[in-house]
Amino acid sequence: MSPLVSFYDTATEPTEAMRDAMRDAPVGDDVYGHDPTVNELEERGAELLGKEEAVFMPSGTMANLAAVMAHTCRGDAVLVEARSHLARAEAGGLAVVAGCMPVPVRGDRGILGARHVEPHLEPPDDHRASVRLLCVENTHNRAGGTATPPEVMRELRALCDGWDVRIHVDGARLLNAAIALDVVPSALAADADSVCFALSKALGAPVGSLLLGSRRFVTAARRNRKLLGGGMRQAGVVAAAAIVGLEDWRRRLEEDHRRAARLADMLEALPGVVTEPQPVPTNIVYCHIDSSGPLAQDVADRLLEREIFCAATSSRTLRFVTHCQIGDDDLQRLATALGEILEEGGE
Ligand SMILES: Cc1ncc(COP(=O)(O)O)c(C=O)c1O
Repeated sequence: MSPLVSFYDTATEPTEAMRDAMRDAPVGDDVYGHDPTVNELEERGAELLGKEEAVFMPSGTMANLAAVMAHTCRGDAVLVEARSHLARAEAGGLAVVAGCMPVPVRGDRGILGARHVEPHLEPPDDHRASVRLLCVENTHNRAGGTATPPEVMRELRALCDGWDVRIHVDGARLLNAAIALDVVPSALAADADSVCFALSKALGAPVGSLLLGSRRFVTAARRNRKLLGGGMRQAGVVAAAAIVGLEDWRRRLEEDHRRAARLADMLEALPGVVTEPQPVPTNIVYCHIDSSGPLAQDVADRLLEREIFCAATSSRTLRFVTHCQIGDDDLQRLATALGEILEEGGE
């Protein structure tokens, strides 16, 4: 394992059990549906989220893009939460590749309710791009891992049905949301036309996301995966790790939530530090350093000198995400290092 402690949940490395499963996985040509391990993963995913079918995608970014393409035509408008991954961190694929117009909508701590969405729904007009799709991010990364509950999804569904608008959930961390809200994952997918979730983040698989929906939707999404160059042939080698990751997901992710809450307490105890959100709902902690301390990028650089990797997300904010390779000792190591850096002060 790498000596670097990374507070990105994308940094997780496969466990020994995953590596064993990868070595032993029966494989085939998945582009023709002949990989039994991928098929098993897709079936398990569909069952977990209560959707008809699933397709294994190489990344969350491709899952989102393939979903947008399946739901829209070029020139359509897509409502995206203003700070969502789809809006800000997918290289503009929604516009460049899908040919859609992103319409940013600011939610309440990342959570979009009907009152945020409704003003953007208007009768057809030749002057306007037609809103065809709403994208919800659950949990919301930039808002600090906040979770959209089933009742809000139901409200969005009722609104969107009245306007013939589809709903896609970027659920990269949907299983974290299910834990935070104490619901089964399918409760968060029931009112969405499509949903994706990451296998490669806190669950520990090396790559991949599942994209789920009706049979008809998944057929279109599978074709889009091919179009985007995401047909992976003997993908069972990596799907096998994801199957292991899914086995004990609730216990696994609960540990991350417990550690994230503990980390927030440890960081708050440092002078000039405030954490957000409070309380920590899932596995993401944002840490604001006040103007008496150094700038966030400087802090991140100095943490990296101590082999601790994290994101500076604004001039005064750092982001820490807990995952399967962060233990209690890593929290202590981070808090001690950050305390030292703050004591040393700025340049
Ligand atoms: C909310 C969200 N959606 C989508 C993605 C994209 O996932 P990938 O890195 O697998 O493309 C990420 C990645 O961090 C994310 O945080």
